[in-house]
Amino acid sequence: MSTINYSEKIPNNVNLGEDRTLQRALEGWQPNFIHWWDDVGPEGSTNYDVYLRTAVSVDPNGWAQFGHVKMRDYRWGIFLNPGDAERKIHFGDSLGEKAWQDVPGEHRANLRRIIVTQGDTEPASVEQQRHLGLTCPSQYDLRNLFQVNVEEGRHLWAMVYLLHKYFGRDGREEAEALLQRQSGDQDHPRILGAFNEKTPDWLAFFMFTYFTDRDGKFQLSALAESAFDPLARTTKFMLTEEAHHMFVGESGVSRVLQRTAQVMNELKTDDPQKVRAAGAIDLGTIQRYLNFHYSVTIDLFGADQSSNAATFYSSGLKGRYEEGKRTDDHVLKGQTYKVLEVQNGQLVEKDVPMLNALNEVLRDDFIKDSVAGVSRWNKVLEKAGIPTRLTVPHKAFNRQIGALAGIKLSPDGRVVSEAEWAAKKSEWLPTPEDFAFVASLMGRVVEPGKFANWIAPPVMGINRQPVDFEYVRFG
Ligand SMILES: [Fe+2]
Ligand SMILES: [Fe+2]
Repeated sequence: MSTINYSEKIPNNVNLGEDRTLQRALEGWQPNFIHWWDDVGPEGSTNYDVYLRTAVSVDPNGWAQFGHVKMRDYRWGIFLNPGDAERKIHFGDSLGEKAWQDVPGEHRANLRRIIVTQGDTEPASVEQQRHLGLTCPSQYDLRNLFQVNVEEGRHLWAMVYLLHKYFGRDGREEAEALLQRQSGDQDHPRILGAFNEKTPDWLAFFMFTYFTDRDGKFQLSALAESAFDPLARTTKFMLTEEAHHMFVGESGVSRVLQRTAQVMNELKTDDPQKVRAAGAIDLGTIQRYLNFHYSVTIDLFGADQSSNAATFYSSGLKGRYEEGKRTDDHVLKGQTYKVLEVQNGQLVEKDVPMLNALNEVLRDDFIKDSVAGVSRWNKVLEKAGIPTRLTVPHKAFNRQIGALAGIKLSPDGRVVSEAEWAAKKSEWLPTPEDFAFVASLMGRVVEPGKFANWIAPPVMGINRQPVDFEYVRFG
């Protein structure tokens, strides 16, 4: 079961060949996917041979194989973690009952919506990142970008498989629509806000893969608990791929900081203009990018109070992060959770039914996880003897969704007047000048082992290859 069948047109470990109708339907979708990739996937990359990992098994020890491939020939396929025939539902009103191998009629609409919403984010990020290859800081980074892109493509396959297999005609229509919406499109945008934002440069890309792919980790973790077993098994495997995406973000920002600190030390300055003049990214700009990506990403968890969140949990569709490790009753009726709101110009906490606050619970888990990485970034500054520290803004800062939407708040959590917001906004969020400056650094460096001036090289290469390995062969 853990071995993937690569002899078929669509690599899979779900015995696709035994279901001819499904196989034909997916083989019909496949060329549309390739069209989408050619149209809005990584620009100008068609002839590149890229050193990519491909899943060859779902066994956690050694599921990947590395080699140079053309991205449009990447073996996108359908890989589910092995199933457990005895698996029980372990939260919500059906706790203790057998997990579902099919979609119960009463949950069909909600499950479809959950799968479509997750599926929509996958191609969206490929679209957002499509121009970045033209300004890569190195071959190593270019390869990492492409690895993330092909795996997001595979995540789309994962959701499309569920739609085709379990949702009949509606599922097939949703699968088509996933290729028709487009990030940032006026008429047919992607479903969630952060996936319609631009990823204009590599600092934005690293922040995105650190924060927004981490949102993916938490959403997938919650779905990996689902009573709908095929969804649980497919998201578990997606999580193993997601880890690399967050690594790209965390190590990317670390390397930017390392280079900035080096320039600051060489010039003995903390003047942002001098740092910029030396071709590195000043810490203020990095902090503003962080503030933006963090706040846009925590909006993805949805409204702080949501009756949908309660329904999804109680009906077993979506659990909490690490549901199995928690020691409460896994039903949560009568329990409360603290959410924030503004009363008389002050942020105050209030207790609400926990079931309704499960978006907030997941958001808070995400916040804990992302703060940990920011302290690792600060270690880079500390080691270099730079006293400045990066911080994540208050969770009510710059929010567009939920009870905190539109509240004017400083990053350190003070409610501020319109006038103060207008005066300080350029210190708190990236400005057009910041974007223009970062854009001005984005040259294209593709000679093996060479790196753009604004970023330090990584400590080691991919899959134990040297840093100056030829990760991308330009045909
Ligand atoms: Fe993904
Ligand atoms: Fe990802």
